[in-house]
Amino acid sequence: MFRFYYCLIWLCLHGNLVLARCGDAAFLEDAHLPSPGLIRKYGYPFEEHKIETNDGFLLTAHRIPKRGGPPVLLVHGLQDSSAAWLVNGPDKALAYLLSNRGYDVWMLNVRGNRYSRRHINYKPRQRQFWDFSFHEIGIYDLPATIDYILNRSGGYRNLHYVGHSQGTTSFFVMGSERPAYMKKIKLFQGLAPVAYFAYMKQSLGKYFAPYMGEIVRLAYRSCIYEFPPQSKVLKKVFYKLCTVILHKSCTFLIMKLAGVDYRQLNSTTIQIYIGHFPAGGSVKSFDHYAQQINSGGFFKYNYRSVAKNRRAYGSAKPPAYELGNVDCKVALYYGKNDLLAAVKDVRRLRNELPNVVHDELLTYRKFNHIDFLVAIDVRKLLYDSMFSVMKRVEDGEL
Ligand SMILES: *[C@@H]1O[C@H](CO)[C@@H](O)[C@H](O)[C@H]1NC(C)=O
Ligand SMILES: *[C@@H]1O[C@H](CO)[C@@H](O)[C@H](O)[C@H]1NC(C)=O
Repeated sequence: MFRFYYCLIWLCLHGNLVLARCGDAAFLEDAHLPSPGLIRKYGYPFEEHKIETNDGFLLTAHRIPKRGGPPVLLVHGLQDSSAAWLVNGPDKALAYLLSNRGYDVWMLNVRGNRYSRRHINYKPRQRQFWDFSFHEIGIYDLPATIDYILNRSGGYRNLHYVGHSQGTTSFFVMGSERPAYMKKIKLFQGLAPVAYFAYMKQSLGKYFAPYMGEIVRLAYRSCIYEFPPQSKVLKKVFYKLCTVILHKSCTFLIMKLAGVDYRQLNSTTIQIYIGHFPAGGSVKSFDHYAQQINSGGFFKYNYRSVAKNRRAYGSAKPPAYELGNVDCKVALYYGKNDLLAAVKDVRRLRNELPNVVHDELLTYRKFNHIDFLVAIDVRKLLYDSMFSVMKRVEDGEL
């Protein structure tokens, strides 16, 4: 397996260096504008909100306000940011389309990403700052954000929640651990929902997961708690490499990680996305996901020490999350070609959720993990259906 990747990388490097025409890629403003700049550029109103969690993080939420409109909260995936809902541009990106339809759109940036790097006690250079995974996002970030939004949206007692990937995992954690919040959810829509990874097909994840314990130990010993490191220089180098010199291999790698779908891939949009992704996160997030991959179950974090597990959970092994508690209305959308959210895993998840009102395996066969955000025809392939499910729930038909 390792040799395979090695050969692949060598081939791509070689091919690209031969084919590279530097200066080929035009300067793309959207790749460099942070989310607030993108929203303003396309003429939408914009607000930034700081939300303090019970454990002291100061999160940044980006809002396209609509007074009186039903609030909808969008929560991005691992290493992503509010930009996930914007990079596809004003005609296609979900945030704009929801705003056009009269919704009050809130985009959270979870702890640790480029917009949410503040804590009342800790600095990002300290280990304590990075001691989190999707678990803490689920028990702290989401409840704080939901309360904050409902407090400011003129009388609405519940909101629409849309999550992509980790934005769904952390939602399931919230449902399991803070079930009272399920009453504050009008409808949860999970895009590429992930709780189980028994059938995950992504080779990179499969390859690294068994060694993640060792990798993390090594990283911590080297005082690396955040991955990838956030540095302006590194970001520039990565962007240039990935969009100019190694453009073809980078796209190829993205396809290999998400699922190969060149038909729905707009190379301009991908370049913009690369300007915003990865947006930062903790090493522990990868570690917790690797544990899910290794166990095939949906468990709390395993400290790899019976004593520590006992202290945290009162048992030698970490307990499973209670999907039965996630009793709000749930709609699930998943793709046949998604290398991370495998169809069989989503079906298992669906069978354990008590209140699934809409279950949609997308008909386009090549739909992959990032098509939910950046596909050329995402509106027709996915969003139109979401809008109609939201409408039906609001009208009391679902
Ligand atoms: C909601 O607003 C009230 C009154 O303004 C305030 O006392 C309360 O702390 C707020 N709750 C949250 C979670 O922001
Ligand atoms: C690709 O994205 C760019 C920038 O958003 C847009 O101008 C172009 O029309 C898109 N191409 C297709 C085929 O959708």
